Amino acid sequence: ERVKEDPSLCGPGLTGPGLTGPGLLPVGLTGSKLGCAEGGCGACTVMLSRLKGDQQVLHYSVNACLAPLCSLHLVAVTTVEGIGSVAQTLHPVQERIAKAHGSQCGFCTPGIVMSMYALLRNKATPTMDDLDDAFQGNLCRCTGYRPILEGYRTFTKVGTPRNTQETCRTLLMFQEATPLFDAKDFVPFDPTQEVIFPPELMVKTDADSAAVLSFQTLSKGQRSQSLCFHGDRTVWLQPNSLEELLSLKWKHPEARVVVGNTEVGIEVKFKNMVYPVILSPAFIPELNTIKHTEQGIIFGASCSLSLMEAELRRAVDSLPLHQTQVFLAVLEQLRWFAGRQIRNVAAVGGNIMTASPISDLNPVFMAAGVKLTLMDKDGSRLVQMDSRFFTGYRRTALRPQEVLVSLEIPYSKKTQFMSAFKQSPRREDDISIVTAAMSVTFSPDTSLVEELKLSYGGMAPTTVLAERTAKELIGRPWGEELLQAACSSLAEEMTLDPSAPGGMVTYRRTLTLSLFYKFYLTVLLKLRDQVWVRSDCLSATQIYHQETPSSVQVYQEVPQGQHLDDVVGRPIMHLSALKQATGEAVYCDDIPLYENELYLALVTSTKAHAHILSIDTSLAVSMPGVVCCLFSEDVPGSNSTGPIVYDESVLADGQVTCVGHIIGAVVADTQSHAQRAAKAVKIQYEELPTVVTIQEAIAAQSFYEPIRTLQKGDLEAGFEQADHILEGDMHMGGQEHFYLETNVTLAVPKEDGEMELFVSTQSASKTQSLVAKALGVASNRILVRVKRMGGGFGGKESRTTILSTVVAMAANKLKRPVRCMLDRDEDMLVTGGRHPFYAKYKVGFLDNGQVVALDVSYYSNTGNSMDLSLSVMERALFHMENSYSVANIRGRGFLCRTNLPSNTAFRGFGGPQGMIVAESWVTDVAQRLGRPAEEIRRLNLYKEGDRTPYNQVLDQFTLDRCWDECLRRSDYKQRRAAAHLYNRQNRWTKRGLAVVPTKFGISFTAVFLNQAGALVHIYTDGSVLVTHGGTEMGQGLHTKMVQVASRVLGVPISKIHISETSTNTVPNTSPTAASASSDLNGAAVHNACQVLVERLQPYRSANPKGCWEDWVSAAYFDRVNLSANGFYRTPDLGYDFNSNCGRVFDYYSYGVACSEVEVDCLTGAHKNLRTTVVMDVGHSLNPAIDIGQVEGAFMQGLGLFTLEELHYSPKGVLLTRGPGSYKIPAFGDIPSHLTVSLLRDAPNAKAIFNSKVRTEPRPPPHMNSGSSVRNKTVQTSVEFCKKRQNIPVPPVLEFQLMSVCMVNLFT
Ligand SMILES: Cc1cc2nc3c(=O)[nH]c(=O)nc-3n(C[C@H](O)[C@H](O)[C@H](O)COP(=O)(O)OP(=O)(O)OC[C@H]3O[C@@H](n4cnc5c(N)ncnc54)[C@H](O)[C@@H]3O)c2cc1C
Ligand code: FES
Ligand code: FES
Repeated sequence: ERVKEDPSLCGPGLTGPGLTGPGLLPVGLTGSKLGCAEGGCGACTVMLSRLKGDQQVLHYSVNACLAPLCSLHLVAVTTVEGIGSVAQTLHPVQERIAKAHGSQCGFCTPGIVMSMYALLRNKATPTMDDLDDAFQGNLCRCTGYRPILEGYRTFTKVGTPRNTQETCRTLLMFQEATPLFDAKDFVPFDPTQEVIFPPELMVKTDADSAAVLSFQTLSKGQRSQSLCFHGDRTVWLQPNSLEELLSLKWKHPEARVVVGNTEVGIEVKFKNMVYPVILSPAFIPELNTIKHTEQGIIFGASCSLSLMEAELRRAVDSLPLHQTQVFLAVLEQLRWFAGRQIRNVAAVGGNIMTASPISDLNPVFMAAGVKLTLMDKDGSRLVQMDSRFFTGYRRTALRPQEVLVSLEIPYSKKTQFMSAFKQSPRREDDISIVTAAMSVTFSPDTSLVEELKLSYGGMAPTTVLAERTAKELIGRPWGEELLQAACSSLAEEMTLDPSAPGGMVTYRRTLTLSLFYKFYLTVLLKLRDQVWVRSDCLSATQIYHQETPSSVQVYQEVPQGQHLDDVVGRPIMHLSALKQATGEAVYCDDIPLYENELYLALVTSTKAHAHILSIDTSLAVSMPGVVCCLFSEDVPGSNSTGPIVYDESVLADGQVTCVGHIIGAVVADTQSHAQRAAKAVKIQYEELPTVVTIQEAIAAQSFYEPIRTLQKGDLEAGFEQADHILEGDMHMGGQEHFYLETNVTLAVPKEDGEMELFVSTQSASKTQSLVAKALGVASNRILVRVKRMGGGFGGKESRTTILSTVVAMAANKLKRPVRCMLDRDEDMLVTGGRHPFYAKYKVGFLDNGQVVALDVSYYSNTGNSMDLSLSVMERALFHMENSYSVANIRGRGFLCRTNLPSNTAFRGFGGPQGMIVAESWVTDVAQRLGRPAEEIRRLNLYKEGDRTPYNQVLDQFTLDRCWDECLRRSDYKQRRAAAHLYNRQNRWTKRGLAVVPTKFGISFTAVFLNQAGALVHIYTDGSVLVTHGGTEMGQGLHTKMVQVASRVLGVPISKIHISETSTNTVPNTSPTAASASSDLNGAAVHNACQVLVERLQPYRSANPKGCWEDWVSAAYFDRVNLSANGFYRTPDLGYDFNSNCGRVFDYYSYGVACSEVEVDCLTGAHKNLRTTVVMDVGHSLNPAIDIGQVEGAFMQGLGLFTLEELHYSPKGVLLTRGPGSYKIPAFGDIPSHLTVSLLRDAPNAKAIFNSKVRTEPRPPPHMNSGSSVRNKTVQTSVEFCKKRQNIPVPPVLEFQLMSVCMVNLFT
């Protein structure tokens, strides 16, 4: 029935919209999450099982979002709900991730659980490498990955987590802490107890069938059945035989052959493609066959990449090395090909036939001379994959009626060598910038080139062979002359137009040479009998191998004698973690559908700046299921909105000011109907001049008021006094929040103009007031409820209201519940992110390195509205000196008005932007003086009692302690010496270390926000319900609040519950932001609990031997109010920019981090070898949560400074709109060794139980270890090249290295 409803059978997958409403909701399965719908985040991972042969069952993880329902005939689907639950029995995979603190917001958790589960179903005792492989397709934005790996390490051969071992070692050395979890508490894993394959899917196979492996994998039912599914736009045909397939293809030459749907699914979902006929050849024996021949191995075109990988691995293990060079090259490419879930379903034929110019396999197949069997109804032909096969962008030599049946991957020859390379921004699961395969065959017993094939992807609209270069090198000996000739020739042959799609033209061109250079050295090494490779060049030939990560966490244990029920200071698990791991935790979109519920889709601007001339909805309203369209004239209240200044409109009125500006909405019966109709709304624009970049804004003087200035001392005198003056500038790009759960609102209208809203927001009260304003009702009619968010990071502080007001409007108009969860691409398009910054600075310093004057101007790309940008800029100014004392200082902040979606709060809230500029000028000073940067940093570091530029005295100063401890724990001196030695010994990879301090002010800079409320009820059974103004987004706020209440009330946490955040329990709340929430709400909860404790005291005194329930009961019968509210306002705050006095912050959070990074100077790739972070969090309320926040923040900083890039077109269109194009750090990006230490004995008298917050301050060691180390090491290499110290380096490499350096610094 549902299939019939599906508008595009092959588009959205199991969890996708349209097929079954929002995900698997109608069947009550909400565990699998939808994070992207493009196979890039893994949140939707489920396990599929199908029969292989008569008895064996194949289990494999897949991305449910891309798995078409029609492809699941005779397949069992196991979701996270199917393996365990909190109510019944937890599966060890669920228990361990939760107890190891590997689930924060929990939105990624079910997917990670299922990846691990599928791995264990295939291998009960995996290795750590197996874990790396299994998680390549899973992303987590919160945890920093370390705790997930540590929890799951307990399943591996290593067994006891290394964490525990090392922590024990640390414990012995420093007598500091116990581990964050104890593996001994885990329920043992018993692989024999897993759910069985459903017997009804056990169709007996034909034992007499041909002895072909894959054929046997097909059950009889599958083989004997032709299937046909009809959707309203697509027919899905599953033919029974090759003959039937060919005849169908003859009849429908335009039909798509779909196997894994990893390409077609994306086209349907994101490129609006409609394919009326789909042919599914998944079960046709000839297309699934694997056959060994004299020449090589034949793979049927529908073989999955995982199947091919396993077969090639077997061949490599059993055949002589010289025969398997091609196989090894394919395997090397598969290592970095997508994630395991994609490889489990994507077909090798699908990769060839997609004919993508950046296909990773096609270069290998081309260089290896793979042979393809093509067939139509009239017969077959054999073609070699050469330069004639790809006829244009995503076109091949196949005729429309033909299908690809199989491919033959040849054995290599005795004198053949082959390598494959993939260069992508992120190593794991990323598309290539340049991908290449190279094969050389030598004349027997010589080093003379007999045959050479150099194949590149990413250098043209198709995969190409560098045929001219290859021809020129035939017959030459493999040596320096050949290298010179190859590089000159490749530089001429591998050209790219400056406007080539994908950009980075110079970098890509240089990569063609540097990859060849790597190949050249690799082959030289293999020819070692005949030629010789210098030892310092060897590192260029090393294939990247991810080291098994190890970690140490250090924290202070609770004092001896602390009662066991008092959990303050103990590393207790996030209270929702188990539910998150089982999929039982309810997120906004998991709320069951209301019977008469409607769905809303946004109509957004495609122009950055334009007048709206007309809106034509005639087509949209005639489409199936559409109920109504909404535009600005439908706003019943005020169309003006905005979190601080009302400079935005709920719906655009006559003019749009960014691409993604919300113009209107379409409401329909289902999500797919609404989305399809929204795309059918036609809007005519009259375009106006646009301002997109900061530079354009500066040129046009396009600024918002006010321009903030923060000044102290005498700038002129400072520069006079300076021995040196340096000027510089710096640009820092923006960052997408990439919370795994996109924005979502469900609005339910009630009587008397009341409206109940379920929103994923950090600001319940702001949502309430802006919805009330838009609807023209009083705030007391609007109830906003927030159970939990799947991540926020500031992105849900203010920008959530642009969706929730529109959804509320629709519900109000139609008097029916309305829901909308944004697709990932929409969310990224409309909501804005971290502000890009540009800064110009002038710094004056003495000969000894002391900085005496600084003048800095910051420009932020604010976007099309003010939002919170002034406060963000103010925080950047408050952190412009980072942790360094500068006597004479001036900072100015300009807010650039541009035609981009309004940028907003993001963890650090302008702090990181302010600080990185400081790190830039500190590094400049060090370079000018020829001194190590850490010396200059240490010299200028603040001291106790110093005053900041805004005249705040630094007391309880612990930064110097953090600094010393960080240096000690990281073995800084020894490692720096070792890095110097390494760099002397290695020409093409370089290592560097940096140590960077941070100081982060705690408080909202808008004084009025520094308040919080709480409401605590005690029920007659003694149970306690706590409510406070903060929202839970994974940061563990509710867990900490329960810890606080537990201590004050003196009851175990099992008696305390926090249900949700709602505006009818605690009113007028501040957003959960600015790192202030546990301080503010903790104090409010403390206050409320204290009131109750005092009310209960008489009953406690009267019955000292009684228990909590007795006292509560006695109080109740004595008619005592067992409900209390609490309130807290941070004292003594109030800064004034004009007079530069008054306290800005309540206190500071300090941290120091040190990272060691290795850079590949030939490609710009880097790896994080080791990071040590020391943070002062006062007396930690919960060390597990605090360490989790430090690690998560560190990984976000790593992403910000080394990986994540937002790209806009010159017309202001965001081009990076999903995990496919926007890369956040993945499992493989964590440092090989990570130490996080919470500073001991550093109580903070200003916050609850002497704690300090830590969610926001991010130690940013990559500010330096990433960019400047890379910069420096690449420069060093360039110097090497320049001097040409007897190394066989062609001059062209100098240019190449420069480019790598530039690209990595500025992209
Ligand atoms: C998250 C993600 C990551 C990815 N990462 C990578 C990567 O790292 N490297 C890379 O190269 N690619 C990558 N891809 C692209 C994609 O996975 C591959 O191209 C994959 O091999 C396609 O196989 P499929 O079976 O899923 O193709 P489908 O989507 O089923 O089909 C793809 C195309 O091939 C045609 N086709 C399939 N089989 C035949 C046949 N037998 N005869 C004729 N035509 C046929 C179809 O008609 C269709 O046009 C990624 C995709 C996703 C979604
Ligand atoms: S939702 Fe399927 S991979 Fe992201
Ligand atoms: S816990 Fe992984 S995304 Fe939040």
